[in-house]
Amino acid sequence: MMTITVPASSANLGPGFDSLGLALTLPLTVTVLGPSEHWLVDHPYGPTVPNDADNLIVKSALTVADLPAQHLGVTSDVPLARGLGSSAQAIVAGLILGHQLAGSDFTKAELLAEATALEGHPDNVAPAIFGGLQLTTQHQQRLSQSSLPLPGDLVALTVIPQQTLSTAAARAALPKELPYQTAVQASQNLAALVAACFQQDQRGFQQLVESDCLHEPYRQPLAPDFALIRDLAHNQGFYGTYLSGAGPTSITLLPLLDAQALAELLKENDPDANIQILQIDTAGYQVKTE
Ligand code: HSE
Repeated sequence: MMTITVPASSANLGPGFDSLGLALTLPLTVTVLGPSEHWLVDHPYGPTVPNDADNLIVKSALTVADLPAQHLGVTSDVPLARGLGSSAQAIVAGLILGHQLAGSDFTKAELLAEATALEGHPDNVAPAIFGGLQLTTQHQQRLSQSSLPLPGDLVALTVIPQQTLSTAAARAALPKELPYQTAVQASQNLAALVAACFQQDQRGFQQLVESDCLHEPYRQPLAPDFALIRDLAHNQGFYGTYLSGAGPTSITLLPLLDAQALAELLKENDPDANIQILQIDTAGYQVKTE
């Protein structure tokens, strides 16, 4: 029996729109239960998610090779369409499944290229594959990937709203053009954040996490809790809050004790809020065969 585990991920980290993503310990697990007459996927997401050959995991596997149908068991606590990389998890798991069933070797770099082609952007699939904090760029068909050192022990205080937000809707909210000065500022902010990682400047890093000017200003109306969460954190002196992926989930990166204090405050403000303190996944995907 084969089991593939892929971490969740948070893209658009701070000023890293479409380029910076962080792997989180909220796994999707795919178990190959055995050959089947038709593709069959037992998953926890209800009737709106296909359980046959139209399932994203299966569709991704079938891009590798024409494979014999299998019965798959899927477990996951990652909510769909919240900005936590659920589609990247499904794509990465499906591609690995396809390679394993086809018996084809692959490198992580090849997997990144295949997954990026299916997902359309690299910032979720890179951390799902490599783990940790990943910087990826795409320029004239060329994909680059670098692992960045997080400055110190940080956890991700994650607030997941009830409502969903599709990436397509969130991309539609973005402007077609930006002022030249905004583009310069965006480039400076990302460069400064990368420097803060290598200098292990935790406080500078947390402040720069709040320096996006490419998507948060336009998507904020689609994620109504985001501004309030950042304000409440600032009132206590906590920095490091950003809109995860396309939203509406917001994440604050901070040391565990600070995360616990902020979680309590947010719970007082909204007792029904879905607040989770997630660890950073440093390993990326795993494959186990028994
Ligand atoms: N970088 C992507 C976006 C992440 O913001 O559209 C969402 O999947």
